[in-house]
Amino acid sequence: MEHRRRGLDLVVDALACPLCRSVVVTTTSAVVCENGHAFDIARQGYVSLTTGRATAGDTAEMIEARDRFLGAGHYDPIVDAVVDAVPSSAAGLAVDVGGGTGYHLARVLTARGGLDGIVLDTSKPAVRRAARAHPRLGAVVADAWAGLPLRTGVAAVVLSVFAPRNPAETLRVLREDGVLVVVTPTPRHLAELVSAVGLVSVDDRKEERLARQLARFDLEGSIDLEYPITLDRRAAVDDVLMGPSGHHADAAAIAAALESLPDPLSTTVSVTVSVFRPTPTGGPDAPAADVGGPA
Ligand SMILES: C[S@@+](CC[C@H](N)C(=O)[O-])C[C@H]1O[C@@H](n2cnc3c(N)ncnc32)[C@H](O)[C@@H]1O
Ligand SMILES: [Zn+2]
Repeated sequence: MEHRRRGLDLVVDALACPLCRSVVVTTTSAVVCENGHAFDIARQGYVSLTTGRATAGDTAEMIEARDRFLGAGHYDPIVDAVVDAVPSSAAGLAVDVGGGTGYHLARVLTARGGLDGIVLDTSKPAVRRAARAHPRLGAVVADAWAGLPLRTGVAAVVLSVFAPRNPAETLRVLREDGVLVVVTPTPRHLAELVSAVGLVSVDDRKEERLARQLARFDLEGSIDLEYPITLDRRAAVDDVLMGPSGHHADAAAIAAALESLPDPLSTTVSVTVSVFRPTPTGGPDAPAADVGGPA
């Protein structure tokens, strides 16, 4: 267990108690705040900093599908674009909100030696994997809607990759000179799969919505990334399973829905990678929170 929680010990100074927001320390078996609230460190090296009822995150089956799919490299061009979006001089803490298995953040940490990292995710199966994704990564179960269990102004980098966003909390935890990197799907993302299985498609006005949500940030730049991929049936099922449909259908039901499609299947990955910085003067008020899109 000791080696797995090394990442957690590295980043504990950035964490805050989810109950009273005070600073925390690690003991041999728990994360404990100044007021004595204690949160057990799991055998796998992660900690749950949640209060009461948390939003249900991705299921174990969805996370296994995500692990297989990302591990096969299908989204590596996206990961590369995320790494490129993080300034090479970035130093301090990088936080991946809704960071899943830690795949993206681990790659960022490998490429940017000045950063340590925290994955926040509400899914235990995801965070269990994230805890072993990189030695400089601490993994924390947290519900982004309940507020981020982080101290104010601790993050040099925040990532939001196909994940829910809490703009007000992101602004609070980001340093004034920090960057927010957001990956969102475009309406063309996986269009062939979307039409075949009747997935919820990405709404055309997503970019407009993103800009509205992040009204207290300045858009520094964005790139549209589009490339073809060929997926065998297993990978096609995983791709659907690891997205929002995975909450409603299991692998067998998804495989049945894909039966009439060619195997292997050619489809298109299409995303926008955007870099934002906090607006120096504060800017107009933004809505408190909104949900990210499908993976
Ligand atoms: C589509 S997945 C993306 C995961 C990861 N960013 C990636 O690209 O591999 C969305 C993630 O957000 C997590 N999630 C959903 N609601 C959340 C919430 N309220 N707070 C934190 N994480 C949440 C899910 O458990 C899931 O891991
Ligand atoms: Zn406390």
